[in-house]
Parts: sequence; structure tokens; C-alpha cells
Amino acid sequence: MTVTSIIGAQWGDEGKGKITDFLADKSKVVARSQGGNNAGHTIVVDGKKHKLHLLPSGILRKDIINVIGNGVVVNPDVLLKELANLDDERGQLFISDRAHIIMPYHKMLDGAEENSKGKSFIGTTGNGIGPCYSDKASRIGLRMGDLEDDDMIIERLEKALPRNQALLNHYGIKDDLTIDGLFETCKAWRRELGGFITDTSLLVNQHIDNGDSVLLEGAQGVHIDIEYGTYPFVTSSSPTTAGAALGSGIAPSKISDVVGVTKAYLTRVGSGPFPTELEDEVGEMIREKGQEFGTTTGRPRRCGWLDLVMLELSNRICGFTSLVITKLDILSDMDEIKVCVAYKGEDGTEINHFPSFLSYLGKCTPVYKSFTGWSSEDIDITNGIIPEEMKNFLDFVSESLNIPISIVSLGPGRDETIIF
Ligand code: GDP
Ligand code: IMO
Ligand code: MG
Repeated sequence: MTVTSIIGAQWGDEGKGKITDFLADKSKVVARSQGGNNAGHTIVVDGKKHKLHLLPSGILRKDIINVIGNGVVVNPDVLLKELANLDDERGQLFISDRAHIIMPYHKMLDGAEENSKGKSFIGTTGNGIGPCYSDKASRIGLRMGDLEDDDMIIERLEKALPRNQALLNHYGIKDDLTIDGLFETCKAWRRELGGFITDTSLLVNQHIDNGDSVLLEGAQGVHIDIEYGTYPFVTSSSPTTAGAALGSGIAPSKISDVVGVTKAYLTRVGSGPFPTELEDEVGEMIREKGQEFGTTTGRPRRCGWLDLVMLELSNRICGFTSLVITKLDILSDMDEIKVCVAYKGEDGTEINHFPSFLSYLGKCTPVYKSFTGWSSEDIDITNGIIPEEMKNFLDFVSESLNIPISIVSLGPGRDETIIF
């Protein structure tokens, strides 16, 4: 029996969906613990691409129990659309009664707040994630469980709607939302989703007690964590091991394995510092070959070299028991591959711990270690053979961070994966 937390170690889009689907083969439960439909997890099965935003990546396997945990923010319309796109051969689904609901005014407010920021916009996915978590912290949010009780829906709406409308007004946005209209919307959601809502903390813990293997599927990445990310260019939840435990309602001590998923290079969507960013033809090549365009927004992802300074912080916060390195195939056939091992400040001083100051991150110069590239012709996935040059690269990453590598991914498909 294992409880495995799958964590995005960088700025998101590391391939968590592919790895969750891959590991789900040996699991009974897959649970999402934080974030919402800002996530975009792509899974390729038998050449067919599935894009999941809210549904856990175990949903494509019919024997898996999928859980949307209490830490997730749920847009019911998005969820219904995602469910409608799946065929009947899907896994079971349960939604936490404690998960907060993304209301129409949250999405409107997300756009209004971004517009008001001018050049310092965050580049959110525009899905109302931040405003929904704000209402949760302000104790005026609606939860999935509230849908079961008419009086509770009205009570919550009477608090939340005027406050959100006042904020929208502040940004010059007029809306035609009413308590009556939203009440009807909530009742429609109850009709469609009521049967999925339960105490998922109890459910997940029962499976753990039964000895079933559980996967906690992270969304986003440690460096857009609200606490440890490049604040304010972050998301509003905690994509960490601690966040995974809390957001799925299990004790941290129940987690046996923590898998840090990292690309062999680095990408970021949205604004914020990026010391190893490549704004040249190498970055362009990685973007095109790696198809680095957002699963949720379609925006081009910014690309750069792998950064071990970042990963040291991710590991410090999350305690990885192993690393999964994805998209190694994208770096194949390059003459030289670089890895950032430290940052050099304007005064020439080198640091190897990721700082909190955005001003430093914006101005520092990465210190690189250079590696000879490998040839795609020397990769033999079926027999688990990787080129010597790739092995050197992986050994360096593993030894520098003192974390074993458990899996390498060499393509989007399930079978393009080697277990170490
Ligand atoms: P997630 O948000 O962490 O689940 O990652 P995304 O799905 O947003 O982005 C990862 C993209 O890379 C998806 O299109 C995957 O199908 C794809 N992918 C995952 N692993 C690999 C790999 O090893 N090689 C290649 N070429 N593509 C991969
Ligand atoms: P997955 O799970 C990459 C980024 C947005 C923006 C910031 C805040 O696919 O790895 P938000 O809408 O959350 O308020 O936006 O966070 N962001 C992601 N970047 N992958 C994600 O999820 C992301 N989810 C949010 O681009 O910079
Ligand atoms: Mg993604």
C-alpha cells in the first residue's frame, strides 16, 4: 500500500497528468487536492489526446476511484462539460462536500482585477481561481455541500453576491447577477452533480485503511505556490506535499512517497521572473518541438534551461522521495544542454538558494554547467536503454539534489516511459 503525492516541481505543466495516468495503473484512488480548472493535464492514450482540467487523471481508467478533494475549487459548468466529453468507460467520481464553488462573479472579477493591473498583470488563466480562494479565506464562499440545502444557498449568496458586486463596480463592471438567478443555477448544479458529493476525506482514509494505493495528483507547481512561489506571480493555492495532504483530508504522515515531476528543461506561463529564460532561437526551438503552448489557455509558454536552484527549494518544501524527469526527448539531438547550478548577483556573488526577492531574480545571471547532447537514435525505450550522455545529465541532476530518479519520460504516450 502506498500513498503517493505527485508534485509539479517547477512552474506547472511538468507532465503531471501523464505521470498520474501512468502510475494510476497500480492504484485504486486518484485524488486532486488543490487548484481548479486553471490546471490543464494532457494524457495521451492509444494516440488519442485527452485534456483534463478538473477531473483527476485516473478518470480514463474504469477501475479507478477519482476524488475532487476539499482543497479544490470547482466550476460546476466546467466539470459537467468535462464529464460529458468522456465515454462511459470511465472511473468513478466523488466530489468533496467541502470544496468551494467558483461562481460566475469570481470569473468576472478575475478578468477585472487583471485588467486593472496594467503592465503588472499576473497572467492568470482567467478562470476565477484567485477570487474564489479569496472568498474562501473571507469565509463567504459557497461549498459543494451547501448545494444540498436551499436555505444555506440563499444565506451564502446574500453574503457573497453584494460584496463581489461591489468589487465589480469598483472596477467599473456592471453585471446582471441576482440572488434568484444564482439560486436557480445552484439548484441545477445540485440536480446534475448532487450524486457525486460526499465527505471525501472519509472516503480516501477508508481506502488507505483498506490497504489500497492512493495517488494525490498535484496541479500547478511549487514555484507558483502562494507561500513559496514568486509572489505575487503565483496561483492562490498550495501545490506542495503539505497542500496535497490538507486538500485531500489525510494526515501528512500517511504520505509514503513524494514524486517531484520536472521537465528536463523549464517553462512558465504568465508573468514573473525566469532567470534561465531563453529568448533566442534555442528557446524557440524548444517551444516548437516541445509544443509548449498552454493546455488551458493556448498561450505560448516561456522556455529556458533546467534550474537546480529552483528544484532545491521545491525539494526542501516538499521532500521528494524520487524525481520523474519528463520531455527528455525534446532535448535530443542538441549539441549542448545546460543546467543552472547557481545565480550570480550584480556584485558578482553567487547564491544557490532560491531567493524571495523578485528584484534579485530579475537581474541575476544564471551560472551553468554544460553537457554534451545525445542522439535520439541511441534511445531504445522498449529495452530501457538511454544514451550515455543522457545518463550523465540525469546522474548530475540526481546527485546534485540527492534524490533518486524513478521514471524518465521520452514522449507523451503511456509506453514512452522508462522505469528506473
Ligand atoms: P501537466 O499540467 O503537468 O499535466 O502538463 P501538461 O499536460 O500541461 O503539459 C505537458 C505536455 O507534454 C502535454 O502535452 C503532454 O502530453 C506532454 N508530455 C508529457 N510528457 C512528455 C514527454 O516525455 N515527452 C513529450 N514529447 N511530451 C510529453
Ligand atoms: P497545471 O496543473 C502552469 C499560472 C497562470 C498564472 C498564475 C496564476 O496545468 O500545471 P491562476 O489562474 O491560477 O490564478 O493563475 O498561475 N498557472 C499555471 N501555469 N500550469 C498550471 O497548471 C497553472 N495554473 C495556474 O498562468 O501565471
Ligand atoms: Mg498543464
